[in-house]
Amino acid sequence: MRKKIVAGNWKMNMDYEQGLSLFSEVVNMAHDEVTGKQHIVVCSPFIHLHSLVQLAKGNIKVSVGAQNAHQAESGAYTGETSAKMIHSTGAEYVILGHSERRQYFGETNELLAKKTDTALANGLKPIFCIGETLQERETNVHFDVIKTQLEEGVFHLSEEQFGQVVLAYEPVWAIGTGVTATSAQAQEIHVFIRKEIAKKYGQELADSTTILYGGSCNAKNAGDLFGQPDIDGGLIGGASLKSRDFIDIAKTFN
Ligand code: PGA
Repeated sequence: MRKKIVAGNWKMNMDYEQGLSLFSEVVNMAHDEVTGKQHIVVCSPFIHLHSLVQLAKGNIKVSVGAQNAHQAESGAYTGETSAKMIHSTGAEYVILGHSERRQYFGETNELLAKKTDTALANGLKPIFCIGETLQERETNVHFDVIKTQLEEGVFHLSEEQFGQVVLAYEPVWAIGTGVTATSAQAQEIHVFIRKEIAKKYGQELADSTTILYGGSCNAKNAGDLFGQPDIDGGLIGGASLKSRDFIDIAKTFN
């Protein structure tokens, strides 16, 4: 069976001390309350990564990830952070292609393909985000948009490389808005994504690919969403900033 993952995306929140105390709560609650049928990933700002990895040591239920990485290996890119640097902290995952990066930082599918290559080459597992805007859904081009994001962002990878990738379907209109996709809407897209993977890489790899849902996911709606056969967990923004809420979402898989 494919891996179930509940990943938190703290975005640009939490100062250093706040991040450490939130993460300590998450690790303790995961230890006491989470069965281990699911894996928890916390994607923090860069400043926390190394400390969180230390706090997570010995806890096999919780991993740490970053929220972005540069496409180059190293060099004169003032202010940027490389995949190799992230890996050196002990972090295992990196979110790539989040809609906020696409929207506010102009990240294109072409750039994201390069970032994915560099992340994989440096031992990080990408959590690769795809999803349509409200306008794209209303004009009925959402399937085309998602297909293009897959084709241009990750379908150049070898089978072995693709096997390291976690996908996250995040409809842009559901992120931070309180409007969640219905479980039927999300399941429909997840089935579509899995079919596209099967066409490209075969059914076996499609069946083993973890596909998360993200966008206003909370402890109340997680049960319904994660109960869908093709939804393998969530990428959680706002609700990952409260340990109780985040762990309750993860416990959906207990
Ligand atoms: P949200 O964010 O849960 O606050 O809607 C999800 C995300 O952006 O990954």
